[in-house]
Amino acid sequence: METKQFQTALPEQALQCAQVRALIEERGGLRAYVHTYGCQQNVSDSERLQGLLLEMGYSLAGAPEDADLILYNTCAIREHAENRVFGNVGALKAIKARRPGMKIGLCGCMMQQEHAVQRILEKYPFVDLIFGTHVLHRLPEFLYRLLTGEKRVVETGTEDTAIHEGLPVHRDGRIKAWLPVMYGCDNFCTYCVVPYVRGRERSRAPEAVEREARALVQAGYREITLLGQNVNSYGKGFSEPCGFPALLRRLDALEGEFWLRFMTSHPKDATRELIDTMAAGRHIARQLHLPVQSGSDRVLAAMNRRYTAERYLSLVRYAREAMPSLTLSTDIIVGFPGETEEEFRETLALVKEAQYDSMFAFLYSPRPGTPAEKMENQVPHEVKTRRFAELMQLQEEIAKAKNRRLQGQRLRVLPDGVQPHQPGFLTARTEGNIFVNLAASPDRIGRFTEVEITSAHAWMLKAKPVEPGA
Ligand code: SAH
Ligand code: SF4
Ligand code: F3S
Repeated sequence: METKQFQTALPEQALQCAQVRALIEERGGLRAYVHTYGCQQNVSDSERLQGLLLEMGYSLAGAPEDADLILYNTCAIREHAENRVFGNVGALKAIKARRPGMKIGLCGCMMQQEHAVQRILEKYPFVDLIFGTHVLHRLPEFLYRLLTGEKRVVETGTEDTAIHEGLPVHRDGRIKAWLPVMYGCDNFCTYCVVPYVRGRERSRAPEAVEREARALVQAGYREITLLGQNVNSYGKGFSEPCGFPALLRRLDALEGEFWLRFMTSHPKDATRELIDTMAAGRHIARQLHLPVQSGSDRVLAAMNRRYTAERYLSLVRYAREAMPSLTLSTDIIVGFPGETEEEFRETLALVKEAQYDSMFAFLYSPRPGTPAEKMENQVPHEVKTRRFAELMQLQEEIAKAKNRRLQGQRLRVLPDGVQPHQPGFLTARTEGNIFVNLAASPDRIGRFTEVEITSAHAWMLKAKPVEPGA
């Protein structure tokens, strides 16, 4: 399967890569700047875009002002995300005016949305390149066309649904890596644009995932996060069955010192087999991101989530029993159309019961083309913000109390960088992915370290290393 996909488009692109490289050499070098909005899927795509750019002979610029090519990889999940992109693209006009010959490109999820592309085409004439999520691998071709005089390149088709293995990847970090295992989403939650902008669900072959994971471990990466909009439906349509727990077990068998994480799990597809696999794993972090979205069965049904609050909670109970140290996080949408005060209280009750370690809460944002956008009884903004504040306050209390219990405990953490503006301190994460401010020297970065938690707050822990033998 992989080999066939490899043959579909990449040789052509390899040729275009070489042609762009020759053009860049002729011009004495060109610099590219990539900025990423949105989720880890986009971050991972940008790592492939950067890989392609380096392959073409671009060097990477540290700031847009220094670049000959600016690429914004955009997100369409909420209106706020889109508005930020429009604002930031508007600001590029002045930069481009000072740097004639500079090219500006937009890609990613927003570019699969008709209204966004129309607005760019009409109001932002200085944007040279627009391409969607399905044709990312054709970047060499697009740049070749621009560099040889084509005025504007616009490619937003959805017909290319193959997975193109073999693209070069340039990762920003050396310690933590994103590893996509599947693309797209088939769930059509009624509020969400992802199925429209990312297309149908398709999984990478387990061999391809394993090969990339093994190479990462061998290169010294200490944490690998498997990515997919709904990792638990991994493997749908494979001729030889390999579900997500089976994939996890395969990667867990790799030798080396690393943590394996994954996101996102849709509760309707997360199984007890998944939990058992996590509990038995050697490398699998006991950490689960399980977005619940709402605690009301009526709202969950209107969202097309296909589980009930009780079914969700019974999985949480099972997971906590199997892994007492489990760290659990979630996403919640506040103010879905028609959400009553009582239904919101059901969400608060579920949050109390689930005892999340962390939460991402969002004000419902109507997205063009989704069923929820057309639903009646849209919740007024003031009501949404009040509910949001109440939810966040509850979560803060829960997280504070949970973290307080960690005070004085010894844990293993992975330091991943220096604290900006705080000499003598590192940033680190626990196995549960809780943020730690660690008093230690930079030689610890990338090395698993035993620490003692010295103080605990709602959003982070402070810690110091435990000296061997202490
Ligand atoms: N595939 C993942 C998450 C995708 S988007 C999942 O199913 O859980 C990340 C989060 O953004 C979602 O979990 C949801 O809480 C939020 N979200 C998605 N669409 C939204 C919208 N229209 N308004 C507000 N929040 C939204
Ligand atoms: Fe969106 Fe639902 Fe798919 Fe997640 S599962 S990406 S929320 S449609
Ligand atoms: Fe945004 Fe696309 Fe991710 S819409 S959240 S970048 S899949």
